[in-house]
Amino acid sequence: MEETWPGYEHVNVQAGLDAWLAAGRRSSETVGVLNFRHQHFGLAELLTTGDQPHPFGLRPGNAATVNLPSGPDGATRACLRCALVLTTDGDVRTALLVRGAEPESGLARVSVQALSTDPGTARAAVREIRAAADRENVFRGQVLSFDQEVFGHGQTLLRFHRRPHLEPGRLVLPADTLAEIERQVVDVARHKQRLLAAGQHLKRGLLLYGPPGAGKTHTVRFLVGRLPGTTVVQLTGGALHLIAEACSVARALQPAMVVVEDVDLIAEDRGMHPGQHPLLFQLLNEMDGLAEDADVVFLLTTNRADLLEPALAARPGRVDQAVELTLPDRDARRALFDLYRGDLAMDLSGLDGVLDRTDGVTASFLKELIRRAALFAAERTDDGALAVSAADLVAALGELLDTRNAMTRTLLGAGDRG
Ligand SMILES: Nc1ncnc2c1ncn2[C@@H]1O[C@H](COP(=O)(O)OP(=O)(O)O)[C@@H](O)[C@H]1O
Ligand SMILES: [Mg+2]
Repeated sequence: MEETWPGYEHVNVQAGLDAWLAAGRRSSETVGVLNFRHQHFGLAELLTTGDQPHPFGLRPGNAATVNLPSGPDGATRACLRCALVLTTDGDVRTALLVRGAEPESGLARVSVQALSTDPGTARAAVREIRAAADRENVFRGQVLSFDQEVFGHGQTLLRFHRRPHLEPGRLVLPADTLAEIERQVVDVARHKQRLLAAGQHLKRGLLLYGPPGAGKTHTVRFLVGRLPGTTVVQLTGGALHLIAEACSVARALQPAMVVVEDVDLIAEDRGMHPGQHPLLFQLLNEMDGLAEDADVVFLLTTNRADLLEPALAARPGRVDQAVELTLPDRDARRALFDLYRGDLAMDLSGLDGVLDRTDGVTASFLKELIRRAALFAAERTDDGALAVSAADLVAALGELLDTRNAMTRTLLGAGDRG
């Protein structure tokens, strides 16, 4: 009897195995298999060698383990790489062969094989371990990102992140924009039971679009913080082709949110034929393949809505809301200014002028403006608490808008103004 799982589920298989071993009246002994690497074998091969030394040098020894991430803040769990777990339950004896994925040897999946003095027990054991692995799944309710090992064997790297929490006021958006986003993501989750009872679907797709620095990533962070207990799977950079895996985790661990940032990078990955976007196509397919009543949010962000629009328009209904985030208007700039100034003492008599001259800049620009003004104040005085004068503020703004700072402005997302 055998069950297999994708390689990244190794830690959950171990959690399931541990739970299964702890349940009932089983006693167990774990025996490592030496020289297992690069060898394909199962319980059957281990049994057939009889008294002869095994031709490939497989022999019993200490069980090798690997510490795999099991939670945020560096939590890990020791997972068996290749071992026999010999269990006794009354007069029934069952042997399990547990093996982690080994992409470098062509083993893509984690496997548990079972052999028992009672055939029904072997079948039940692998079934129960699978159920326990689902129950004990350490990904549930966590914030995860899928990454691809850059050098190596295409192993999927899974990281846990601490759930961010943004105080209200840390995200500065026009009230109606924020309300729109929250309604689609948070309120649907909150009214889930009543919506389902009324025959409404829960699956939803939200696209945040707007120029770099407009706060798309910041808004994602805010939303992740607003949904404690929701499993979040983020796909980053080189991992966009792991969409199927991400969706499979989301489907299994609802309520869930799949975050694909800068989704235009997917769209740019063109296929063999012009106009084809295989990864984008796959993402839309995955969104489509999810049951209507699945409590899964797809949160996509892009700087290039123009690139995505044709593909999204051709397959309507996957993204049910597109929200534009713009660069901060005058009111928003004032709010951001207050936010970043915090408790810093400042003469605000020149603030109106500053707000006039910063049309089209990003939040990051305003943050840097305040820091520069504080630095001017520090250089002007010898010690004591900083107090920014109106002149410091104007000088800092002048410096950032100076033609020689064009590159800095670009890096702060303020474009070619000045
Ligand atoms: N609307 C906003 N409210 C508060 N801070 C913001 C806002 N937009 C941007 N920021 C700040 O600017 C930084 C960069 O914004 P980010 O969300 O990464 O932009 P984007 O993802 O749209 O390119 C954020 O980390 C945050 O500190
Ligand atoms: Mg971003």
